[in-house]
Amino acid sequence: MKFFIDTANLNEIKEAYDLGVLDGVTTNPSLMAKEGIKGAENIKAHYKAICNIVDNNVSAEVIATDYAGIVREGHELAKIDDKIVVKVPMIKDGIKAIKYFTNEGIRTNCTLVFSAGQALLAAKAGASYVSPFIGRLDDASQDGLELIAQIRQIYDNYGFDTEILAASIRHTMHIVHCAEIGADVATCPLSAIMGLLKHPLTDIGLEKFLTDYKKVNG
Ligand code: E4P
Repeated sequence: MKFFIDTANLNEIKEAYDLGVLDGVTTNPSLMAKEGIKGAENIKAHYKAICNIVDNNVSAEVIATDYAGIVREGHELAKIDDKIVVKVPMIKDGIKAIKYFTNEGIRTNCTLVFSAGQALLAAKAGASYVSPFIGRLDDASQDGLELIAQIRQIYDNYGFDTEILAASIRHTMHIVHCAEIGADVATCPLSAIMGLLKHPLTDIGLEKFLTDYKKVNG
C-alpha cells in the first residue's frame, strides 16, 4: 500500500518524507489556498518545491472545467516535473481530458469521485489514480469504506490498472480499514499517518524496558 500525504505544507511533507514511508503527495486548490499560495507562477513554484522533497507522485489539480482548458493546464502542470500527476475533476470534459492525457503518456488522478459508476468511468478513460472521498461520504451519512470495497471489486473483475487512491481520510482507522479492503493508496493528513505509531502498551513497555535497564546499569 502506498502512503501519500494530503497537504501543500512543505514542513509536513518533509516530516512525513523523513519518516521514510512516503510515496507521494496530493494537493487541491483548497490546500494550496490554506498555505497562502496564489498566482500561477507561485503555484507552479510551490509544486516544484514539493517535487524537490519527494521521490514521485505529486498530484497537482487543474482549475479549468472545459476540455481545452484542462488539456492546456494539464500540459503546463506536467511540464513542471516528471513527478507531477495531473489531477482532473470527475466531470464530462474531465473524463475526455483523462483519455487524452492517457494517450499522451501523462499520468492522471481523477478526483471528486463519490460513486462506483464514476470510478468505472475513470478507469475506462485510463486514469492512473481514482480518488474516492471517503471522509466526505461519511460526513453525508454514506459509508465511504463501502465505496472503496465496491471499486476494488469492479477493478479486480476486469483487471483495471487504475489505482484506488482513498482520499478525504479523516483518521488513522480509515487508513487501516482501507488497507484491509485493498485500496492501493491512502492519502492522509500527517496526524493520521503518525497515529499509526501509537499504542499505550508500546509506551508502557518501553518505559519498563528502560527502567529495568537503568536498575542494573545505573
Ligand atoms: C485529495 O486528493 C483530496 O483533495 C482530499 O483528500 C480531500 O480531503 P477533504 O475532504 O478533507 O477536504
